[in-house]
Amino acid sequence: MALSPNERRRVMLLTGASRGIGHATVKRFSAAGWRVITCSRHPFPENCPWEMGPEDHLQVDLSDAADTMRAIEEVRGRLEAEGGLLHALVNNAGISPKGPAGERLGALGTDFADWQRVFQVNFFATILLARGLREELAQARGSIVNVTSIAGSRVHPFAGAAYGTSKAALAGLTREMAADFGPIGVRVNAISPGEIDTSILSPGTEKLVEQIPQRRLGTPDEVAKAIYFLCTEASSYVNGAELHINGGQHV
Ligand SMILES: NC(=O)c1ccc[n+]([C@@H]2O[C@H](COP(=O)([O-])OP(=O)(O)OC[C@H]3O[C@@H](n4cnc5c(N)ncnc54)[C@H](OP(=O)(O)O)[C@@H]3O)[C@@H](O)[C@H]2O)c1
Repeated sequence: MALSPNERRRVMLLTGASRGIGHATVKRFSAAGWRVITCSRHPFPENCPWEMGPEDHLQVDLSDAADTMRAIEEVRGRLEAEGGLLHALVNNAGISPKGPAGERLGALGTDFADWQRVFQVNFFATILLARGLREELAQARGSIVNVTSIAGSRVHPFAGAAYGTSKAALAGLTREMAADFGPIGVRVNAISPGEIDTSILSPGTEKLVEQIPQRRLGTPDEVAKAIYFLCTEASSYVNGAELHINGGQHV
C-alpha cells in the first residue's frame, strides 16, 4: 500500500552544507529523522559528521546556472524514491568576496564578474532551485527558507556591496515567492542572521559585538533551530516572514 505524505520520512534539500550554518542545519534535521540531501562544490566528506551516505550529497557549483539546472534534474531523480516529495528547500549557500588584503568591496571597487558571481550564488540559484523543484515541494506541502543577512538592510563594515544588495534582493524575492508559492501550498520565508560564529566572519567582528544588545556572536545551531521552526508544523501559518537572528543587532 502506498504511504501517504504524512507517513513518509521528511526530505530536505540544503545548499551549502559543508560548513557553518548549513552544517549545523543538517545535524539538526538529521537528528529529527529527516533525510537531508546536501549540495556544495566539494565532494561528499570522507569523515561525514552526520549519518548519511554519498547518495545524499550532490556536487554542484551554484555560480554556474547550467550546472545548477543539471543538479535540479539529479535531485528530482533522487526524489522519485521518496514518492516525489520534497518537504523543505533551504537556500543557505552564500558567498561574500573580499579584496586581496581582506578588505570590504564597495560599490566602486567591485568587478562586474564578482557582482555576477555573487548574484548567481546568493540570488539566482535560489529561484532556479525553487522553480525547478516546485512540483515536489507542492506535493509535500513543503517549505522554503532563504538565508538573507543583516547586511541586506544596511551598509555593513565588512560585507561588500554585491553581497549586501544580493541579500536585499533575496529578501524581496522571498516576498514575491511567498505570494506565488502560497497558492500551491508551499510557504516561503527568510531568516536573516547577524554575526554568527562561522568562517564567513571578518577580523574585527569582536568590535561589532560590543554594539549587539546580547553582547555575543550567535552560534550556527541557534540559526539551525530557527530554520527548523520555519520548516515544521510550529510555523504552519507563517509565510513571507524574514526572521532576524542577531541578538537584537537590527534594533
Ligand atoms: N556567518 C554569518 O555571520 C552570516 C551572517 C549573515 C548571513 N549569513 C548567510 O548564511 C549563509 C551561510 O553562511 P556561513 O557563514 O555558514 O557560510 P560559510 O561557512 O562560508 O559556508 C558557505 C557554504 O556555501 C557553500 N558554497 C559556497 N559557494 C558555493 C557554490 N558556488 N556552489 C555551491 N555551494 C557553495 C560552501 O560549500 P563549498 O565550499 O563546498 O562549496 C559552504 O557549505 C550564507 O548565505 C551567508 O550569506 C551568514
